[in-house]
Amino acid sequence: MRYFMLLVLLASSAILVDCRREVSIDCGFSGDDAYYDDRTLKIYAPDAKYIDTGANHELDESYVTGQPVQAQNLRSFPDGVRNCYTINDVTQGDKYLIRASFLYGYYDGGQQMRDGRSLTFDLYFGVNFWQTMNITVASHLYISEIITLASSDYFSICLVKSGDGIPFISALELRQLDSEVYKDVNQSVSLRLSERKSMGLDQTIRFPDDIYDRIWQPGYTSCVATSYCRDARRNSTVLTTTALVEVGSDHAYKVPSAIMQSAAVSSDDNTLILSLSNGDDVVMAPMFYVYLHFAELRAPKRNESSIFQLRVPGSRPSLINISLEYLVARHIQRIYQANSDPSTFYLNLTRVPGSLPPLLNAMEAYSYVDLTKISTDQGDVDAMMTIKRLLYHTEWQGDPCVPVQFAWNETKCSFPISTPPRVTSLDLFNRGLKGDIPAAIGNLSAITYLNLSRNTFTGPIPPFLANLNSLQTLDLSGNQLDGSLIDVLCNRQANGSLRLRLEDNPCYFHGICVCNKRKQKHSIYVLAISIVVAAVIVIVLLSVFFLGGRRGKKEPSKRQPKWRDTIGSSFHTGSPHFTYQDLRTITNNFERVIGKGGFGTVYYGRLHDGTEVAVKMQKRFLAIEEGISEDFMTEELGSDSHGIKEFQVEAQLLSRVHHRNLVALVGYCKDGHSLGLVFEYAAQGSLKDHLSDKNNTGRVLSWRERLRIAVDAAQAGLEYLHKGCKPPIIHRDVKTSNILLSHNFEAKIADFGLSKAFLTDAQTHVSTQAVVGTPGYVDPDYHSTYRLTEKSDVYSFGIVLLELVTGLPAVLKFLETGHIIQWVRQGLAQGTVADVVDPRLQQQQQCDMYSVRRVVDLALHCTALNSNERPTMTEVVMQLKESLQLEIVSESSTRPYGGDVDVNQSGTTATTSINLTELSDPSAR
Ligand SMILES: *[C@@H]1O[C@H](CO)[C@@H](O)[C@H](O)[C@H]1NC(C)=O
Ligand SMILES: *[C@@H]1O[C@H](CO)[C@@H](O)[C@H](O)[C@H]1NC(C)=O
Ligand SMILES: *[C@@H]1O[C@H](CO)[C@@H](O)[C@H](O)[C@H]1NC(C)=O
Ligand SMILES: *[C@@H]1O[C@H](CO)[C@@H](O)[C@H](O)[C@H]1NC(C)=O
Ligand SMILES: *[C@@H]1O[C@H](CO)[C@@H](O)[C@H](O)[C@H]1NC(C)=O
Ligand SMILES: *[C@@H]1O[C@H](CO)[C@@H](O)[C@H](O)[C@H]1NC(C)=O
Ligand SMILES: *[C@@H]1O[C@H](CO)[C@@H](O)[C@H](O)[C@H]1NC(C)=O
Repeated sequence: MRYFMLLVLLASSAILVDCRREVSIDCGFSGDDAYYDDRTLKIYAPDAKYIDTGANHELDESYVTGQPVQAQNLRSFPDGVRNCYTINDVTQGDKYLIRASFLYGYYDGGQQMRDGRSLTFDLYFGVNFWQTMNITVASHLYISEIITLASSDYFSICLVKSGDGIPFISALELRQLDSEVYKDVNQSVSLRLSERKSMGLDQTIRFPDDIYDRIWQPGYTSCVATSYCRDARRNSTVLTTTALVEVGSDHAYKVPSAIMQSAAVSSDDNTLILSLSNGDDVVMAPMFYVYLHFAELRAPKRNESSIFQLRVPGSRPSLINISLEYLVARHIQRIYQANSDPSTFYLNLTRVPGSLPPLLNAMEAYSYVDLTKISTDQGDVDAMMTIKRLLYHTEWQGDPCVPVQFAWNETKCSFPISTPPRVTSLDLFNRGLKGDIPAAIGNLSAITYLNLSRNTFTGPIPPFLANLNSLQTLDLSGNQLDGSLIDVLCNRQANGSLRLRLEDNPCYFHGICVCNKRKQKHSIYVLAISIVVAAVIVIVLLSVFFLGGRRGKKEPSKRQPKWRDTIGSSFHTGSPHFTYQDLRTITNNFERVIGKGGFGTVYYGRLHDGTEVAVKMQKRFLAIEEGISEDFMTEELGSDSHGIKEFQVEAQLLSRVHHRNLVALVGYCKDGHSLGLVFEYAAQGSLKDHLSDKNNTGRVLSWRERLRIAVDAAQAGLEYLHKGCKPPIIHRDVKTSNILLSHNFEAKIADFGLSKAFLTDAQTHVSTQAVVGTPGYVDPDYHSTYRLTEKSDVYSFGIVLLELVTGLPAVLKFLETGHIIQWVRQGLAQGTVADVVDPRLQQQQQCDMYSVRRVVDLALHCTALNSNERPTMTEVVMQLKESLQLEIVSESSTRPYGGDVDVNQSGTTATTSINLTELSDPSAR
């Protein structure tokens, strides 16, 4: 039974020892593994896992002889104001001794101590000031130690620049103490060590003699440093014993038995005077927590007692009698408060008449340190630390909010009076962050402002953002977020409690993270459009039905003429034939030139009924007109019929295809040498003229007008040519100068001279050796393959879109790379879409950057080098339609119509709605 008890005792004490938490860190040790130090009998770990900043230094051997091995290297912190070690896995409420050691050892060649300067920096325990380190002796090991209760489950020990000195540290040790020891330490009181001395010993002792690994300095010392190693014994002698000293009632102090077996005794038999020092601190109102450890080592004679008086200024009572039992330890705690501030403080032990002279085994003096400033809310700190780890953001050191002077730049905090500070704002704008939005952000429950814009966050918009109830601003713009938006966020945006920014995200372009409010409006709008369109279609069908074919016969141009495979020998266009004389009359003797190009010249004309027309005359005709010989002409134009062929192609084509966004052929002329085509007149000239403001109208096309032109050209023109015609037609010369604008800015695609129709359905491209198209617009694929497909038109159209956005021509003379694609890509890489948008649009302040960004992305997609990656014209049309619809919705929701742009709201809307739907159903024509 007894044996069993012993076993239990042994086991439990072993567990006690094992369970006491301790951490030993050799700061600046560059090895990978922890090592066993046979001097301290402890295992020291490298510090890399406790800190992510600073630089390691090895000290020169001459400075480290006799010093602990941990002091032979150090970590210094030249960068940043505050750098912190974080020690995890401590238990909140437990009592710990934390010790930091510093040995300068001229690691930097003595830079910082030249001319007798001292090296100073501050030590912080978490958010609280711990001590100013004043390193004056390079080869001295400075030690600072505190005893405190853990207020959280980790400790943060920070080195802070306070002067021009670079903070450094040699070792960091943490030892758990039993909670009964040093009872003064509680949540509001922490202690910083001033002195700990064994009065009767000549050597320093610590673990394993001291189970807590306290370091006891000898009472007699031969220190080089002045104040730190004061001789506490005056007029005393040393007494030792080998007899065992009982631990007494305060067993928790666990003062090493070697210390309890030796003591200093007053040598004049009257008074033992202790002088106290305050370390290197300059303390104006000194207050010491004094712990005195006694054991009577002298066997008392029969009528002798061991009683003496202790006088401690400021303590209540200031005078107490201390009686000791033979070989029983006794521990006394007093608080010393000096009224004045002398440089040395004394504790006097005075003999009581009839008693033995006073004696003392050991003493400790601590000063009070206020570590009560509360650090930021634990949840917020944990979240920020997780974010920091995920982002590899080493600039974030210590607490995010306190002390205010070291608070992180990216955070803002609130400071409630009685509760911990909270992180209320986090700004991670443009920090190159990648991956998912860290879930830890969802734990910042007090946050009101969250800016994650201009990073490359991917994935869906995380639902935890909806749990941040205080959030007032959420900026996610300029990321790669996809997926839909949580309703909660939408509702909060709708009721004005949340400012939400989502533009420049894929989800935004797909419309799925656009808020319901907008979506609903949008769908209502679409519904309204559909109804209007349906009504219009019904009316049109009815009128066609009732009014019958008469009308159809009157307008032959609307009939689908029969396609002829052979181009050329005779024009059979179904269009009126004009004589040369007719054209002369119509154009008032070719009076006004409205266009000029490789094909010839275009003149303004007016039919007898007043209809305005454009008359395009072939070059050969001009040559003759101007009296140049036909021989010369032949040379200049190359082998004959090139130009004539183009004319023929265009005439054939336009007589076959009819669409209100293709320029309509009114008639033709083949009269001797004269070849001419008569077109409907585009009153506003070409898109190119407008973008370059060549016609000097000073009128800037609004973003919405540009979008409409793009939709018209894409949907009505090109998609129709590609999909609506059998065989499909490739325009081959899509460019802004071939997009004409009617008087109400309706786009009309012109110039089909280079167009080719696929001969059969199976043939999906046109092979040609001739140089086609216009520099800047030609599909780069063409140069290697000599094949032009529908995707070549898509490419050219992409360039047109870029011109619409930027207002710049396709080929840029001011740019080395010379091309608008490079210019836009470069602009986007270095800035935002706002940097590439036509500045004239921005002046008008009437373009939604989101809508612009969609179009830019679409344009870049269209101009992909690999033609397989380019969208089809049908896809282009769909995307442009979406953009236009959103633009209309946002326009009508954000501002009322001014009189400047369109004729009237309903008229414009109706026109647009028909445009949007007309070609998705080709049969409607
Ligand atoms: C550091 O200590 C030296 C010498 O004791 C003293 O002259 C100097 O004022 C101290 N510096 C600070 C900042 O306390
Ligand atoms: C801590 O102890 C001091 C006395 O040393 C006492 O005045 C104070 O109220 C205690 N604080 C707490 C939080 O227990
Ligand atoms: C200490 O002892 C010396 C003689 O050894 C004596 O001169 C001196 O006055 C004593 N000091 C005190 C404070 O008792
Ligand atoms: C201390 O002891 C002395 C002498 O024995 C006595 O006069 C005095 O009252 C005692 N003081 C206290 C506080 O016990
Ligand atoms: C303690 O001793 C010192 C040094 O001898 C003396 O100056 C001081 O007055 C003494 N204090 C008391 C309370 O006796
Ligand atoms: C104690 O006894 C010794 C002799 O044995 C005597 O000299 C001394 O005066 C006594 N002291 C007291 C306080 O009674
Ligand atoms: C934070 O702000 C301070 C003061 O404005 C500046 O000195 C420091 O460089 C900033 N740090 C970062 C990482 O921006």
